Amino acid sequence: MKSLLNVLNRHEPSRRPIWLMRQAGRYLPEYRQLRQTAGSFLKLCYNPEMACEVTLQPLRRFDIDAAILFSDILVVPHAMGLTLDFKEGEGPLLQTVRNMGEVQGLAIDPQAWQFLKVWETVGLVRESLAPELTLIGFCGAPWTVASYMIEGGSSDRKRALAVAEENPEWFQLLMSKVVETSIGYLIGQIKAGAETVQIFDSWAGDLPPHVLDRVVCGPIRKIVYGVRSEYPDFPIIVFARGVGNQHGIIAAATDANAVGVEENIGLTEVLSNLASSVAVQGNLAPTALLGSKEALTEAVGAVLKGVPKSRHIFNLGHGVVPQTDPLMVERAVTEVRRLDLGVI
Ligand code: CP3
Repeated sequence: MKSLLNVLNRHEPSRRPIWLMRQAGRYLPEYRQLRQTAGSFLKLCYNPEMACEVTLQPLRRFDIDAAILFSDILVVPHAMGLTLDFKEGEGPLLQTVRNMGEVQGLAIDPQAWQFLKVWETVGLVRESLAPELTLIGFCGAPWTVASYMIEGGSSDRKRALAVAEENPEWFQLLMSKVVETSIGYLIGQIKAGAETVQIFDSWAGDLPPHVLDRVVCGPIRKIVYGVRSEYPDFPIIVFARGVGNQHGIIAAATDANAVGVEENIGLTEVLSNLASSVAVQGNLAPTALLGSKEALTEAVGAVLKGVPKSRHIFNLGHGVVPQTDPLMVERAVTEVRRLDLGVI
């Protein structure tokens, strides 16, 4: 019944599962309104009733197959004791961590109030979700989360990259504290009702190949195994954005059930590098939702070409951007459904 879970568990889905990264967010007027009522993005994240409502908003508009928990990857460093603020139009402002003393000061609190609020949201969403839809939980991958902790916000990540290459003891401890905290955070989401989780490594593409295993694959694998030590065989999606022709390596090294793929990469090519048990997710360019209807139709067709629905989760190559017209999202979803009735 649940097409997304069926693809992750290697069962034939009744239809091609669809969800979109950042499917809840600023491009929806109903989101902007609720955010204003909440007063800030963080207040919205930590208000379970409101966060549940935002999670459900895209499902009322679009014929999609999954809800993704409304929260943020920076909840983890916040729960570890760092100050966090989101300034309107500026992105996150996070307290930095740049030496051993500061890493040692980070808390590992499995019952942090931030986590309790997020888990409560997950429970509320699960209660009101239609049975054919799948609830996706998530966390950031250690590299992406650590890079925000080192840089203090959105950046070119030069400082974090230099640290990752040099690999001082404090960076190793930072990564292992993020791994341990993320395992507990995800297990709490699953206990509360998440049916799969995605691990977002938005900045995996920054890293040179010789550190990819140490900084990206190894830490993600520890999270995957940590989760599965409590929930054996739990389905997990790994999105190592920007690794290009290395998604096969990522999938094998992390034991993911599916890999997210950024735009401008042929999915049939990625599939040919994956074990037959692993699916692909992606990879319409978010900018395809900003152009003409005709160009969108063509772009959706190109993503689906030669990719069987039993091994594909339709998504974007990255998140929906704020200036997107919701009608274009609807059009993309309709187009996937239309093509699936054809001969693919
Ligand atoms: O996908 C969804 O709809 C679920 C919610 C979600 C958000 N952030 C909501 C959000 C998810 C899964 C994330 C993940 C996230 N957060 C990532 C990984 C994915 C990616 O986009 O690469 C990263 C790197 C972050 C950190 C983050 N959060 C940044 C850099 C920013 C500012 C830039 C921006 O897009 O605004 C955020 C803020 C944020 N997270 C917003 C939303 C809806 C906008 C906040 C607002 O309303 O002003």
